[in-house]
Amino acid sequence: MSLPSNLQVIVLAAGKGTRLKSDLPKVLHPLFGKPLLGWVLDAVAALSPQAVHVVVGHGREQVESYLTAYQQKTGLSVTPVVQDPPLGTGHAVMQVPGSVWGGPVLVVAGDVPLICPQTLTQLVEGHQARKAQLTVLTANLLNPTGYGRVIADAHGRPFLIVEEKDATPEQRAFHTVNTGVFCFEGPAIAPLLSQLSNRNAQAEYYLTDLVELASEADLCTAAVPLKDACEMTGVNTRAQLAECHEHLRRRTLTRLESEGVTILDPAQTWISPEAQLGADTTVYPGCVIEGPVVVGRHVTVGPHTVLRGQTVIGDRSWVCQSHVVNSVVGEDGIVGPFAHMRDGAAVDRNVKVGNFVELKNATVGADSFVSHLAYVGDATLGQDVNWGAGSITANYNHLTKVKARTEVADHASIGSNCVLIAPVSVGEQAMVAAGSVITKPVEAHALAVARAKQTDIPGWVQQKLNVKD
Ligand code: UD1
Ligand code: CA
Repeated sequence: MSLPSNLQVIVLAAGKGTRLKSDLPKVLHPLFGKPLLGWVLDAVAALSPQAVHVVVGHGREQVESYLTAYQQKTGLSVTPVVQDPPLGTGHAVMQVPGSVWGGPVLVVAGDVPLICPQTLTQLVEGHQARKAQLTVLTANLLNPTGYGRVIADAHGRPFLIVEEKDATPEQRAFHTVNTGVFCFEGPAIAPLLSQLSNRNAQAEYYLTDLVELASEADLCTAAVPLKDACEMTGVNTRAQLAECHEHLRRRTLTRLESEGVTILDPAQTWISPEAQLGADTTVYPGCVIEGPVVVGRHVTVGPHTVLRGQTVIGDRSWVCQSHVVNSVVGEDGIVGPFAHMRDGAAVDRNVKVGNFVELKNATVGADSFVSHLAYVGDATLGQDVNWGAGSITANYNHLTKVKARTEVADHASIGSNCVLIAPVSVGEQAMVAAGSVITKPVEAHALAVARAKQTDIPGWVQQKLNVKD
């Protein structure tokens, strides 16, 4: 069965998230570095909907600017719909323009980040297969506390969802709960929206009341059960945010293990689901790999290493006790211990970025070495370059706020403890003597010495000692 091409999606994201006690709107709280809303949008995007309408309210400027960035990045049509003040999930859905209700409508809460595209697909397909007008995604929970209970007839057709706060003790004993995800036939359900009322314990317009209204109107209601109840974990509290991290973490480590990655200590390893690691790669304890990081095969990561963002680590490389952020390490590389690569650093194959080395917005050619105590920023280093211990680029002028580049050609050698004041260049196979401060271009094959000449004063020490006596 194929998904409808005219599917519209509504994501509810206007709530305050009172229980988080935060300055940040709930749906922007990060889960493995990505806002909760981003996870939900990614899941619905996989269904190729015609359009996505996100109901915003609390902290709407922040949420709207995230949506703009999301749309630019993915090309998905994402429109904010304002709900002010937020008077409940039903009221949120009422704010969406009537034109959205022309066909099938999927409603997802913005605070259920673990929901999988496959589950959403099953819900929409199940809805179509049963020719239902309203289908709710349900879950069976051992502990249903806090969730709305779904009450169905003998044929499994839901006729009521009752919120915990409104439920009788008998209703609370039900274990089938509302995940907060619905599929509606727009033309049949839209007329019911105006019948929602706020006569309940929270004085809110509940979306869930549509079930009773649909049932009373003799519409066909259905329930599709969620296979893995973890997916519905909603983030209402900080503890639930931690729970979501734990579910995602475990899910990802299990997948990676099945793909041939050795995780030496799963309890101390954080890898986000977007990351890809090749077979025979080993991850030592204390690593955090966050974002769409790509790690090759036979790589050793860690211990205590952070890989983040648009980062690529080539096959057979070794990255130890280091931070690599939005950077590329070629094949057979060595990074660390205690190295920091950031903001577009890219090193080719067989490069060493050694102890206490920082690389920023710099490219380094194959077979080059930056082995100890160095800063290379806004620079291009060619192949087979040796960058001496303690040498740095002086790339930033604090008065003009201008950052300038340093170019070092193939086979050049920078001695120890040099300062290359950018903009500056060093030609092919040139040498810069240790302790030099380079302010002018060094031509190819030359030796540049830019330091005070050594002067010996014979007998100086003895003389000083005599004076003291
Ligand atoms: C809701 C359901 C409950 C279900 C649970 C699953 C209702 C009445 N209850 O409860 O049956 O078991 O989700 O997680 O629907 N929101 C708005 N505008 C509002 C209120 C909420 O956009 O006026 C958004 C929130 O930002 C959130 C989502 O709707 O993303 C759910 O709201 P929340 O207050 O968390 O509902 P629950 O109490 O969890
Ligand atoms: Ca919730």
